[in-house]
Amino acid sequence: MANITRVASGEQLVSPRSVERIIHGQAVMDGAGVKINRVLTQPLQRRLDPFLMLDNFGSDEANDYIAGFPDHPHRGFETVTYMLTGRMRHRDSAGNEGLLENGGVQWMTAGRGVIHSEMPEQEAGLMEGFQLWLNLPAKDKMRKPWYKDFKADEIPAFTTPSGALVRVIAGASHGVAGAVQREVTEPVYIDVELPAGASFSQLLPAGHNAFLYTYRGEVSIGGKAVPARSMAILANTAGADGVQVEAAEASRFILIAGQPLNEPIAQYGPFVMNTQEEIFQAVNDFRAGLLGEEAQTA
Ligand code: CO
Repeated sequence: MANITRVASGEQLVSPRSVERIIHGQAVMDGAGVKINRVLTQPLQRRLDPFLMLDNFGSDEANDYIAGFPDHPHRGFETVTYMLTGRMRHRDSAGNEGLLENGGVQWMTAGRGVIHSEMPEQEAGLMEGFQLWLNLPAKDKMRKPWYKDFKADEIPAFTTPSGALVRVIAGASHGVAGAVQREVTEPVYIDVELPAGASFSQLLPAGHNAFLYTYRGEVSIGGKAVPARSMAILANTAGADGVQVEAAEASRFILIAGQPLNEPIAQYGPFVMNTQEEIFQAVNDFRAGLLGEEAQTA
């Protein structure tokens, strides 16, 4: 893995954030019957603006994922799929196709509309990963669709002196720029692996809404435990400069932060716009077959 750099020292914090709340997520079914732990649910969209949803899928029972996500539309936001383990093929109405597997990331900007499918390419074994929905500012909701697949070794990664292994999907960490940068919401999305006894710090702008999700082991922030399969919402304390994470045992977590849009959120299933009128328009465009058509001629 030649893309892993070493950083000299940790990011020094003067005033780290505390944990505001621990969220355990909710078991839901989505797609054609895929079992998911929905960590960021609709009631948290305001609090965690610009993020709209975070799903954690993880099962070695084929029945939990095999039905996949057949053709469905999106408009008005971006989806970021991070596949830890497993193989998922995606196809969209613009004729794009790709295979997402073991450590890969797909970043998809639905903009004015795509229709795509996300289907497992395995009939047994472990399938584990995340899908995050990142809102688009009003001015970009009807932009041209875009997507990019990143293989595991295309995600910048580094190690710290205390032994943390950090993969930078978006934004930056310890001076290492991530695979994707976005203006306006300036998202930070990192995956951190900590050995027992290690700690990790990350600078974050005080205005960013931020949360951490532990998916292996257990970490703690300011003495507050964040057990496996739970999310810590980090307090937006004035003047706070980042987050400090300790791991008594070997642990893995994702840390996500972004600048809130502070715009109205109107959601109807896979459409996220600013007003009800725009939602009606999205549904009408979808029924009229315009979402895929537009993508094809884009
Ligand atoms: Co989708």
